[in-house]
Amino acid sequence: MQNVLDLKGKVALITGAGQGVGRQVALDFASQGCTAVLVNDFHAERAQAVAAEVAALGSKGIPLAGDVTDLAQMLDIIGNAARDAGGLHICVNNAGNAGTSSDTSAPPFWESDRSEWDKWLGTNLFGVLNVSRAAIPIMIKSGGGSLVNVISDAGRVGEAALAVYSAAKAGASGLSRALAKGLGPHLVRVNSVSLATIMTPTIAPMLSDESAMKKMLRHYIIRRVGQPSDASNMILFLASDASSWITGQTFAVNGGYSTSQ
Ligand SMILES: NC(=O)c1ccc[n+]([C@@H]2O[C@H](COP(=O)([O-])OP(=O)(O)OC[C@H]3O[C@@H](n4cnc5c(N)ncnc54)[C@H](O)[C@@H]3O)[C@@H](O)[C@H]2O)c1
Repeated sequence: MQNVLDLKGKVALITGAGQGVGRQVALDFASQGCTAVLVNDFHAERAQAVAAEVAALGSKGIPLAGDVTDLAQMLDIIGNAARDAGGLHICVNNAGNAGTSSDTSAPPFWESDRSEWDKWLGTNLFGVLNVSRAAIPIMIKSGGGSLVNVISDAGRVGEAALAVYSAAKAGASGLSRALAKGLGPHLVRVNSVSLATIMTPTIAPMLSDESAMKKMLRHYIIRRVGQPSDASNMILFLASDASSWITGQTFAVNGGYSTSQ
């Protein structure tokens, strides 16, 4: 049977791929035969470790240490790496600082300082703008492809404790829809994947005590938190030609945390 998720001949970039969801996406892309996987993370040692795991799966793993909030740096390193790899077909904007609705330590928005907003907007919104700006011209030149933005249910339904994060993720989702309209003629599809709680190294400590986990799971139709593979399965589908007639959409991977029509 034909493998509809086959990524042979494709070059992919995943931001924030040094751990968690992004790392799983990098490994799954390699397993599906990606020619090269550009592994971005601002922790250089994480990018290198995951690039080595990618290489062990038979794909070319290219570590791309860099901060997605820095446009000049993204233009430089993505341009150079894509040139070396022979183009760019898939871009996953995954880098983000994940928050959880159970985090009540932060002050409410109306008591927050302007300086706190930059943390959320920087990576979750400006990071997506920067990397998209750097990657899209190369994707167009490479004959088209798929851009996937990893957002959050906080951006779709709002989270009281995560107001600015919600705004940043909603912004990235709006950007996806606008880009999808502009990029259709260039054969670049753009979609968003909206996650609820996924067990990653950043989230695990927030759910380490049993009562926090129990409280959290009350909000989920499927009574478990997600695993990185739950997210990666959807991202892989959207990156592959199996989704070639899908663009401008948001797909929730959330165990039923929120529902939609
Ligand atoms: N885990 C969750 O529960 C959850 C829920 C909803 C949405 N999300 C979203 O999913 C994505 C992945 O989440 P995760 O839990 O795997 O994250 P994570 O914190 O486990 O890993 C993120 C990686 O991105 C890197 N990174 C952070 N800022 C960066 C920057 N400015 N430039 C380059 N690299 C940077 C970090 O070094 C880290 O290795 C994020 O966009 C997050 O907002 C996660």
